[in-house]
Amino acid sequence: MIGIFVLNGVNLGTLGQRRPEVYGTLTLNDIENLLREEFTDVDLEFRQTDYEGEMVGFVREARESDGLIINPGAWTHYSYALHDALEAVDIPKVEVHLSNVHAREEWRRYSVISPAVDAVVAGMGADGYVAALRFILSRSGEG
Ligand code: DQA
Repeated sequence: MIGIFVLNGVNLGTLGQRRPEVYGTLTLNDIENLLREEFTDVDLEFRQTDYEGEMVGFVREARESDGLIINPGAWTHYSYALHDALEAVDIPKVEVHLSNVHAREEWRRYSVISPAVDAVVAGMGADGYVAALRFILSRSGEG
């Protein structure tokens, strides 16, 4: 079975309560369930952490898998450590943002992560994770 890591970074554990007008009302658990229901043939490794070093470890672990989806939260905008970890992992990688980061504060427009991934999805809410998963499946010939 194809294995895909879905990694969520800092503050994403509070989805559902945190600024629902921006990030929606679904919790991270709801998003996980939605993906598990839609992609029954995929072995999903769904994780969240507020610790940057732990996230770097998750990215390294994903090396053996068929693809990686990452919503880095605010690390998107400044974590060179996460950029370097992603750059070193040679599997299909997609950066996902629930909100349209380009329509918000100026500092959210820039991602230090994007140069290290294959594709970026922003502004589609939870559907962005679905789109990212479909992209990885089609890349690996399973879609
Ligand atoms: C986010 C956008 C980031 O700017 C923000 O810091 C987040 C969530 C998103 O999913 O829209 O924590 O990655």
